Amino acid sequence: MSQPDQNDFEYSSEALLSVDLPSVAAARMHRLPPYLFGRINALKTALRRKGVDVIDLGMGNPSDPTPQPIVDKLREAAGKKQNQRYSVSQGIYNLRRELAYFYDQQWGVGLDPKTEIIATIGSKEGISHLCLATLGPGDVALTPTPSFPIHVYAPVIAGANVIGVSMMDGEEALLRRISDMCRTVSPQPKIVFLNFPHNPTAHTVEIGFFEEVVKLAKRFNFYVIHDFAYGLTTFDGYQAPSFLQAPGAKDVGVESLTMSKGYNMAGWRIGFVVGNPDMVNLLACIKGYYDYGIFQAVQIATVIALRHCEEDMRAQAQIYAQRRDTLCESLERAGWEVERPRATMFAWVKIPEPYREMGSIEFAMQCLQKAEVAVAPGRGFGEDGEGYLRFGLVENEERLRQAVRQLRRAFPVDG
Ligand SMILES: Cc1ncc(COP(=O)(O)O)c(C=O)c1O
Repeated sequence: MSQPDQNDFEYSSEALLSVDLPSVAAARMHRLPPYLFGRINALKTALRRKGVDVIDLGMGNPSDPTPQPIVDKLREAAGKKQNQRYSVSQGIYNLRRELAYFYDQQWGVGLDPKTEIIATIGSKEGISHLCLATLGPGDVALTPTPSFPIHVYAPVIAGANVIGVSMMDGEEALLRRISDMCRTVSPQPKIVFLNFPHNPTAHTVEIGFFEEVVKLAKRFNFYVIHDFAYGLTTFDGYQAPSFLQAPGAKDVGVESLTMSKGYNMAGWRIGFVVGNPDMVNLLACIKGYYDYGIFQAVQIATVIALRHCEEDMRAQAQIYAQRRDTLCESLERAGWEVERPRATMFAWVKIPEPYREMGSIEFAMQCLQKAEVAVAPGRGFGEDGEGYLRFGLVENEERLRQAVRQLRRAFPVDG
């Protein structure tokens, strides 16, 4: 079993196991696939060892610093002995109250801090344990594809069956597919995952889409887990709607918001699950067994982030917008077909025609070998991602321009 570089693709940890598992492995470990990016990561490491300056756009790992007031508050709070004890697994009340205020300000959504908000150790932890609390063997979950891997493997680890529904033909087709699945699959799907703004495609929706989902959920009795990781990383005047803005959404689902992306707090491990009180309560119950809460100083610093750092958050989104412009303009000039996203920290780019046939994993390998640029192959997010690459906007504009120059030289495109 090869362990990928800790800083490589963010989905490494849930998909790193090869088929030859040791006998100590639990049966569920056999349901996790071989590590698709093993070869790419091994090559990246080898190139770096040789001193090659790989331009790494493969990850969604924010490279800019956490705003200073948050860091300062952490320093101060960490030194106080009352913050060094176990905290509460649901999150301290002040933090939950602050998030309720934040949701009201940002999206006009009212939340009860006592029953409708729980702090999580980042959204991956929250979503994973929520799946363990709501799904088990015999249950079915639907996940739009291509997908961020945890939306597939959290239900898998919980023992459920996961059915991918393609989102590549647009929202209406996705709604139709969800509805068809609910009519034809037995047992009927219990949980439907959503994730808009979307990783990896950067696709965004308007509130009308969530309204339709809520109608379907009520008609077919399923629950929704909306991963809103990029809800605060939006630009061009676009504000991503919260799932909870849709009338009746709280009856049928929850939303997961993270501090990782909007506030560059990925390493701090803090996020939230909010909405349906039954789901929040089930998550609180299972977390009560697993953890004692996030380091209290981190929770206190997060209050400062939510209360005082909106401008920093907006400035960071603007940085992504500028990087997006630089990357997309450079790729267009190089003859690549690109759609400009209005949210997330990614560009989802079609592999130019002459190179598409080799498949995205092979092409991503060649991007590394011949251009010294790391990108995420679309296939890594499921079959529907084939033919695409995901570029992370995690390097500065000069490095992005340089990356495209290197790609252009290695992979000329006519016209
Ligand atoms: C869609 C999506 N959800 C969740 C996460 C993980 O977020 P967190 O750091 O809060 O666990 C990511 C990280 O890349 C993501 O892209």
